[in-house]
Amino acid sequence: MSDSAIIVGASTGLGRALATLLAEQGWDLVIASRSQPDLDALADELRLAHGVAVTPIAVDIAVDDDIEAFLDAADAAVPDPTAVLITAGAVAEVDDGTGDWTTISDLVAVNMTGVMKLGGRYVERFEARGHGTLVLFSSIAAGAPRRQNVAYAAAKAGLECFAGSMQHRLGRTDAAVQLYRLGYVDTRLAQGRDLKLRPADPVRVARRVVDGLGGRSRTVFEPRYWAVIVRGLRALPAPIYNRLDF
Ligand SMILES: NC(=O)c1ccc[n+]([C@@H]2O[C@H](COP(=O)([O-])OP(=O)(O)OC[C@H]3O[C@@H](n4cnc5c(N)ncnc54)[C@H](OP(=O)(O)O)[C@@H]3O)[C@@H](O)[C@H]2O)c1
Repeated sequence: MSDSAIIVGASTGLGRALATLLAEQGWDLVIASRSQPDLDALADELRLAHGVAVTPIAVDIAVDDDIEAFLDAADAAVPDPTAVLITAGAVAEVDDGTGDWTTISDLVAVNMTGVMKLGGRYVERFEARGHGTLVLFSSIAAGAPRRQNVAYAAAKAGLECFAGSMQHRLGRTDAAVQLYRLGYVDTRLAQGRDLKLRPADPVRVARRVVDGLGGRSRTVFEPRYWAVIVRGLRALPAPIYNRLDF
């Protein structure tokens, strides 16, 4: 039987790069995000190019009923996935963490609680069967919080804590939770932002993620040099850190 994966957030960016790489390697896929037409087009492209089974399912992970319906539909298509990768995430143009409660709620739902609800279901299944990989994506923003992307960074920090708990839960099994702390990646999410360094190629990042599938639980920065930058920032005395303009 061939490997199969569920990718939530597959229509663009890193999720799309992951879907393309896995299809190239012969994996059957469930691809998900909010836009059914975008998913249908990508599914056609991947089936035609690589001859794999691809099931496109629309879901908004900020909506509980959507997650429940998605789990049923994904089960029917891929009952025993080798890996589940949740790349879904979003930023807001203005996210100063104070004024707009709707923005705060939306960002926390898509970047943390929705991912926890969906990811938690697969952790239970992987634990019961003793294998399977859940892959989650955080951001350097969680490790080096600043005055922008406030709710986003808080949500990703919460997601990192969830990943750590699930890694501990699965510690005596062959199942794994792999967490990638991403620096800038050249996708829609990074467009229009004032980036201090050149963004990484999403295909290159996807390759690292695919290479790690099936391995043990891990928490790594990607690209790796961000580990040095974030640790360096965190080592600064607070009065200096808080005056930095980044
Ligand atoms: N790019 C960067 O510089 C960067 C840096 C650090 C961390 N990250 C993280 O890396 C991950 C991948 O991001 P990316 O750069 O590939 O972003 P992207 O190109 O904007 O892709 C995000 C994907 O998530 C889907 N999505 C958004 N909201 C959703 C929702 N409520 N329910 C279901 N799907 C939803 C989008 O499709 P629809 O809009 O059609 O739903 C899209 O497929 C994210 O978790 C992001 O936070 C990215």
